[in-house]
Amino acid sequence: MGSGRNVAVFGAYGHTGRFVVAELRERGYVPLLLGRDQDKLLALVQAQPGLEARQASVDDPASLDRALNGAAAVINCAGPFATTAGPLVEAALRAGIPYVDVAAEIEANVDTFAHFAERARAAGTVVVPAMAFYGGLGDLLVTTAMGDWTAADEAHIAYGLSSWHPTAGTLASGMVSGQRRGGRRIRYTGGQLEYHDDALPTLEWPFPAPLGPQSVIGEFTMADVVTIPSHLAVQEVRTYMAAKAAADLSAATSAPIAVDERGRSDQTFVVDVLVRSGGTERRVTATGQDIYAISAPLAVEAVDRVLTGRTRTTGVASAGAIFDAPDFLRALFPHLSLHVPLDTRG
Ligand SMILES: NC(=O)c1ccc[n+]([C@@H]2O[C@H](COP(=O)([O-])OP(=O)(O)OC[C@H]3O[C@@H](n4cnc5c(N)ncnc54)[C@H](OP(=O)(O)O)[C@@H]3O)[C@@H](O)[C@H]2O)c1
Repeated sequence: MGSGRNVAVFGAYGHTGRFVVAELRERGYVPLLLGRDQDKLLALVQAQPGLEARQASVDDPASLDRALNGAAAVINCAGPFATTAGPLVEAALRAGIPYVDVAAEIEANVDTFAHFAERARAAGTVVVPAMAFYGGLGDLLVTTAMGDWTAADEAHIAYGLSSWHPTAGTLASGMVSGQRRGGRRIRYTGGQLEYHDDALPTLEWPFPAPLGPQSVIGEFTMADVVTIPSHLAVQEVRTYMAAKAAADLSAATSAPIAVDERGRSDQTFVVDVLVRSGGTERRVTATGQDIYAISAPLAVEAVDRVLTGRTRTTGVASAGAIFDAPDFLRALFPHLSLHVPLDTRG
């Protein structure tokens, strides 16, 4: 348990921030509620009596320093991360505390590795970007599937979402990422990120029962193309999105609606991971409910492992590099169910 240590949550009143605050409390940490909007912070404190709120802005480093005072770690839930990640990592480095974020923006995650790897390592500080459903979970699953392999020819991550009602933060982040890549598409092939204008293919992905085969959009590239190659030698990393969920995202009809006491929506997910090396395939599948809600136990478990010394490295690192991936995934039960079949010949 968290033994009452303070963990700062930047963007605490956002949709994902609220799940993270609740998860920290459940695990015995004391969340410090950080955000740029004083009124939204006050409303959150009214709903969460006994917690401390601190207004801070990414444009004002001194406000970030005051907000992180006494925090053992910070979780950044405020996106677009193109704007927030850099200033928050800087503040965490000044404070000498670990930094974890839930960024799904490919460009922002690339920046975090590029700009902070050396300084974070030199400072002995841990920075974990994309420690959420997209980026972190796929990396943990691929790392687990690889097992004793040190390299693989291909990693495929297929997202079987029953629906996708995006939050305002998701839409804003998608727009920022799209602008940053000049409206072009991105994929990871031949060991590097590649920009392109090709139409995205629609194909059928053989999700295991009970979901079964589903129509998916290929090269629907997610943050896994940053996290996985950051530490695993895989030439091709491909991600796929259930066609229905991709259509929901484009339509952006409504935000997620809570259907249970935890505030989760009725969205279900299957993340089916397949890695290939030579003629052998390995597969790991995870299932759960609500991609925003599951990001909270992912981020909080990461912070807990960092604060209790269960890490393998320092500096900027993705989940699979810094944590014992199978052990981490087991710790997410009952939020996540795992299925790990035996190797098959591909
Ligand atoms: N990797 C993943 O799987 C994953 C999972 C969950 C969320 N995310 C990402 O996390 C981010 C938040 O998502 P959400 O669902 O929580 O969205 P949300 O409910 O719309 O919340 C967005 C939060 O970010 C804050 N924010 C935005 N720009 C800011 C800035 N410049 N300075 C300070 N705060 C700022 C907002 O504060 P204001 O209200 O004051 O604007 C709000 O607290 C998005 O980028 C989303 O893509 C990723």
